[in-house]
Amino acid sequence: MTDTLTLRTPDDWHLHLRDGAMLRAVAPETARHFARAIIMPNLVPPVVTAADAAAYRDRIMAALPEGSQFTPLMTLYLTEETDPEDLARAYASGLITAVKLYPAGATTNSASGVANFDKVRPVLEKMAEIGCPLCVHGEVVDSDIDIFDREAVFIERVLDPIRRATPGLRVVMEHITTMQGVEYAAEGGPELGATITTHHLVINRNHILAGGIKPHYYCLPVAKREEHRLALRRAAASGDPTFFLGTDSAPHTDANKLLPCGCAGCFTATNTMSILAEVFEQDGALDRLESFTSLNGPKFYGLPANESTITLTKGDPVAYPDHIDTGDGTVTVFDPMMPLHWQVAD
Ligand code: NCD
Ligand code: ZN
Repeated sequence: MTDTLTLRTPDDWHLHLRDGAMLRAVAPETARHFARAIIMPNLVPPVVTAADAAAYRDRIMAALPEGSQFTPLMTLYLTEETDPEDLARAYASGLITAVKLYPAGATTNSASGVANFDKVRPVLEKMAEIGCPLCVHGEVVDSDIDIFDREAVFIERVLDPIRRATPGLRVVMEHITTMQGVEYAAEGGPELGATITTHHLVINRNHILAGGIKPHYYCLPVAKREEHRLALRRAAASGDPTFFLGTDSAPHTDANKLLPCGCAGCFTATNTMSILAEVFEQDGALDRLESFTSLNGPKFYGLPANESTITLTKGDPVAYPDHIDTGDGTVTVFDPMMPLHWQVAD
C-alpha cells in the first residue's frame, strides 16, 4: 500500500489573498504548501493598472512568513477602460502573468468588470499578439438565465464567440463546474486550459441546500448536480494537460458568510493538498495528482515546473483547524465531510 507520495511542489492557478489583516492571515496558509499562485485582482478597488499590481505584489511579499519562497503571480482586472499598452508593458516586464475577465456583476467585487465585450476587443487582440493569457470567470449574469445554467450559456454565447474572433488568444476557463465546461475545454486545443477547484471535486448542490442551508458551501460558480461533479473528478484525474488546480480559495469572515445576503467563497488553502490526495486516491489516480497540481499548470503558462518537492504521508485521520483567526474575524476552513488521511510532511 502506498503511504508516501512525493510530488513537485504544487502551484495554485487561482487564489484570492485579499488585503490587510486578511492577507496577513491567509497568505501563510497557501505559502506553506504551494510555490506559486495566480493572484486574483478583485480587491476593492480592483487591481486595474500595472502600478496597482506592483503595489499589491509588494503587500503580498510583506505578508509572507520570513524565508518563504512563495511567488505571487500577479494579474490585472480587465475593465472597459484597460489600456492595452499599460497591460503589454506589465506583461513584458514580468510584473503580471495573466489578465482576469469578470463579467460585470458575476461574483464578489465584479462591479468594475466587463458589460460590453466589444469595448475590450482591442485589449484582447493585444493579448493574443503578446501571448498573455486571459483568465475567464465564465458565467453570464442575465437575470433570465438560471444560476445553474450560467456557465453553459456563457460558453455558447460569450466564450466561444470571443475565441473565434480572437485567434491566438490563450484562455483559462476558471473554476469550471459543469460537464459542458469539461467537454468544451477538452476540445479547445493547446490555447485553452481550465482550472478546477478543490471544493467542486467534493460538493454538489445538495450539500449546499439539502437538510438545511450551508453557507460555507456557497461559492461562485455555485456547485452543480452530482453528474457534473463526477465529470470534474474524471477530468482532474485524467492527466489531460488541459486541466489543472486553481483552488479559488476565497476567504470571507464568518460574519460576512452568515448573513441574509452572505458572501460567496470557500476557504480551502489550509487543507487542499490533504483533500486532493484523498480524492485522487478514492479515484485510483494518485499517480496523476502531480500532473493536476504541479505539471499541467506550468506547462499551460509556459513556466518551468517547480524543482522542489513536497512529500505527503498517509496515516490516521489528519487534524486540521476548523477555522483560522484573522484581524478581521474568523474564517471557516472548508469541511470536506470525510476523514483525510494524507498530510504534507514538514
Ligand atoms: C470569489 C471571491 O470571494 O472573491 N468568490 C467565490 O465564490 N469564488 C470570487 C470568484 O472567484 O468568483
Ligand atoms: Zn475566484
